[in-house]
Amino acid sequence: MTLERRKFDSLVIGAGGGGLRAALQLARDEAHVAVVSKVFPTRSHTVAAQGGMNAALANVLPDNWHWHMFDTVKGSDYLGDQDAIEYMCRAASNLVIELEHFGVPFSRLENGRIYQRPFGGQSQNFGGDQAARTCAAADRTGHAILHTLYQQNIRAKTHFFDEYFAIDLIKDDEGFILGALVLNIATGEPLLIEAKTTLLATGGAGQIFRNNTNARINTGDGMAMALRAGIPLQDMEFFQFHPTGIAGKGMLITEGVRGEGGYLLNADGERFMERYAPKAKDLASRDVVSRAIAIEVREGRGVGPDKDHVLLKLDHLGADVIKKRLPGIRDMARTFAHVDPIENPIPVFPTAHYTMGGIPTNRHGQVVVPLKNTPEEPIPGLYAVGECACVSVHGANRLGGNSLLDIVVFGRAAGNHIIDYLKEHRYHRPLNEASVEAAMARLTRWEQKGQGESVATIRKEIQKTMEHYCGVFRRADVLTEGVQKMRELEQRLADVRLQDHSRVFNTARIEALEVENLLQLGLATVISAEARKESRGAHSHVDFPDRDDIHWLKHTLYFMEEGRLEYKPVRMKPLSVDSFPPKPRVY
Ligand code: FUM
Repeated sequence: MTLERRKFDSLVIGAGGGGLRAALQLARDEAHVAVVSKVFPTRSHTVAAQGGMNAALANVLPDNWHWHMFDTVKGSDYLGDQDAIEYMCRAASNLVIELEHFGVPFSRLENGRIYQRPFGGQSQNFGGDQAARTCAAADRTGHAILHTLYQQNIRAKTHFFDEYFAIDLIKDDEGFILGALVLNIATGEPLLIEAKTTLLATGGAGQIFRNNTNARINTGDGMAMALRAGIPLQDMEFFQFHPTGIAGKGMLITEGVRGEGGYLLNADGERFMERYAPKAKDLASRDVVSRAIAIEVREGRGVGPDKDHVLLKLDHLGADVIKKRLPGIRDMARTFAHVDPIENPIPVFPTAHYTMGGIPTNRHGQVVVPLKNTPEEPIPGLYAVGECACVSVHGANRLGGNSLLDIVVFGRAAGNHIIDYLKEHRYHRPLNEASVEAAMARLTRWEQKGQGESVATIRKEIQKTMEHYCGVFRRADVLTEGVQKMRELEQRLADVRLQDHSRVFNTARIEALEVENLLQLGLATVISAEARKESRGAHSHVDFPDRDDIHWLKHTLYFMEEGRLEYKPVRMKPLSVDSFPPKPRVY
């Protein structure tokens, strides 16, 4: 097979908000930057982010970044790194204004300022009254940001490789990352992109679960590439279930519905969140609301013939508010739940939404790993931002509205750091042909036809297994069985049967490559979860129902080789303010 080769200063893998924000910083500095995306860039999953982006602009209610920082640390159940959280919350307001100047069409208040709505886990004055911190473009904020960043990149002359699938990283014997092997999806031809820096911005891995809010493309490709390059993944046991997916289908119904005044009801017509979170009620943080819904259903107060969901009521907001602030939600509810929320409540149930863990980075987006018995070191030339990264600003539970913020803040920070790195590393390093051959071997391996089950069967089994054995509530024996089941699936995947090559060769091979990634990430998640003997944020362990700061206030690091785990301390010291020490977390 011939191998075409191209050279760039910087390679960005993934064209969601994180990748595009980093690429924009680079292209505006006249770096020669390539963005590889497995879909057309504006189809990246940022497009689906609905409710908004947090920043303490104080346009609606009093606010400041320090309160935002407190809420984020508390929301993370104290697992977030406080230096990174401070950095993000301080940067937020300027970066929203910058987006406004790039052309993002934010919704407006009567006085012309950017519209902000309340979201879960937000407070004024360190745990006081509800704040309104989420800057919104109706309920299509991610769509607005992604399209604007794409247009700005076109203007800045970023080079796009649309519909190319990333196979593996290329590295040399000294540990420098030299680029990546990618595959042209349309032609099936591989392409080697050499670059002085490579940034992974491939999004999350929500497709490891059956019911999820994620696009079908969210197979965690960058995280799995990191694992195969010997890099551990951090805190993979913390997977966020969004409280309000359309029941039985999973599509996202934004927290913005509750921010606008919608609320949840059980089969008795009771506003049950008052019992679980007397103060914040429906705007408690997501882990709290998801568990409350699961308990209502488990205890027989679910709605519908199978009593398997609850209701999200918003008709009392009135048709005008729904049409103006939540038009996309109305469309989705009508299409997928067959209800018009102007008249009837939406059936909802928690659905897999967000990977809090990921590739460990510092706040400049550099990928950092601890080398045995030494402090963590950056991997030269490798960066990661957004949902595939773990910086860690979300810790054990992310606050709604902090993911769009994360991608913009750390996309820009990584772009800035890469600009400095390129000044010190002016030439491409010699290519390591052995690493290229190893990446090519992954590709050619999936040209062989196995005799076993289909790729689609294995994909479904992974999703069912993860949902059943590693869902909202976890139990020691169930997790152990889950690890075994995933190991069995690993064996079954080895003999998987591709579709008939003569007809659907390219898509069949890509589906197989994606399923391999899903399997590796599912294993990372369930193995990390089995080991953590406490409950913290989204990791709710019925055998260990309490948070245990003495033994478990630490980050997990999962290495693919033998599923090995190590741990590292949480960075409790912010950059310039006093730290927020762990306290009981009540809403
Ligand atoms: O509910 C939502 O609109 C989702 C936002 C988020 O995940 O940040």
